[in-house]
Amino acid sequence: MMKRALLFGATGAIGQSAARTLAAAGWSLYLQGWHHMDRIGALLTDLAADYPQQEFLPLQLDFTARDAVAALTPQLYGVDALVFSQGITDYELFAEAPAAVLDAQWQVNVRMPLLITQALQEKLAQSGHGRVVYLGSVYGGQGSPMEVMYSTTKGALSAFAQAYAREVASLGITVNVLAPGAVDTPMNAAMLAGGAKTALAAEIPAGRLAQPQDIAYWLQVLLAPQAQYLTGQTIYVSGGWRI
Ligand SMILES: NC(=O)c1ccc[n+]([C@@H]2O[C@H](COP(=O)([O-])OP(=O)(O)OC[C@H]3O[C@@H](n4cnc5c(N)ncnc54)[C@H](OP(=O)(O)O)[C@@H]3O)[C@@H](O)[C@H]2O)c1
Repeated sequence: MMKRALLFGATGAIGQSAARTLAAAGWSLYLQGWHHMDRIGALLTDLAADYPQQEFLPLQLDFTARDAVAALTPQLYGVDALVFSQGITDYELFAEAPAAVLDAQWQVNVRMPLLITQALQEKLAQSGHGRVVYLGSVYGGQGSPMEVMYSTTKGALSAFAQAYAREVASLGITVNVLAPGAVDTPMNAAMLAGGAKTALAAEIPAGRLAQPQDIAYWLQVLLAPQAQYLTGQTIYVSGGWRI
């Protein structure tokens, strides 16, 4: 039977790698993006050529739209897994963060993922091996200055996953957070210019930043039917950094 995952943030650095890793593991995918749907187009061409027996469908959705859940659910057939790899952050002192910035991070990182999970619980239960994975962060476990709200949203996902996992374990659904440390992505490139990357790598016990594949590997493990007994956890994939 075809197993289908809904991958949010498929246009992001980790999402793009996750899409390829999950496709290689036999998953059919709904690939969500918002501003950068061109990146989904390129991915779809590759995946359709490499895995002709599987289905790959694009999905454009703005998590800040009030009616995002209503817009999403009629577009879906069955779904066995939800992966939330979308996310936004903002760098500033908390004392200077406008309420609109705090609201946007809450909406995109937490509120919308939770409402989507709620709306799709029944479909996940029908799967028998329903899976929910939220991309968290080491900052959800050890908060970061200048990213206080981001740290808060990631910590909230970990708290939510632990509680909600207990409600749905009897339905065969597992709920976990995959929490990367520092990942070598374009999003971080500006921050890591001019020797900052070498300095950061020296701080990380593993001696380097993560590549997106280092994260995607664990995602595919969490989605496997054999991972049924692991639920409510936050898995830190950080090369020993911070956590
Ligand atoms: N990179 C790291 O070092 C790192 C470390 C720890 C945790 N993480 C977490 O891992 C996840 C993926 O990170 P990444 O590096 O792949 O991030 P990224 O490259 O910045 O990608 C962000 C994703 O979020 C989507 N997104 C942004 N605003 C949206 C909106 N309003 N509605 C719907 N989707 C929206 C983007 O879609 P469009 O571009 O199409 O709008 C994109 O797919 C995030 O949750 C991040 O917090 C990353």
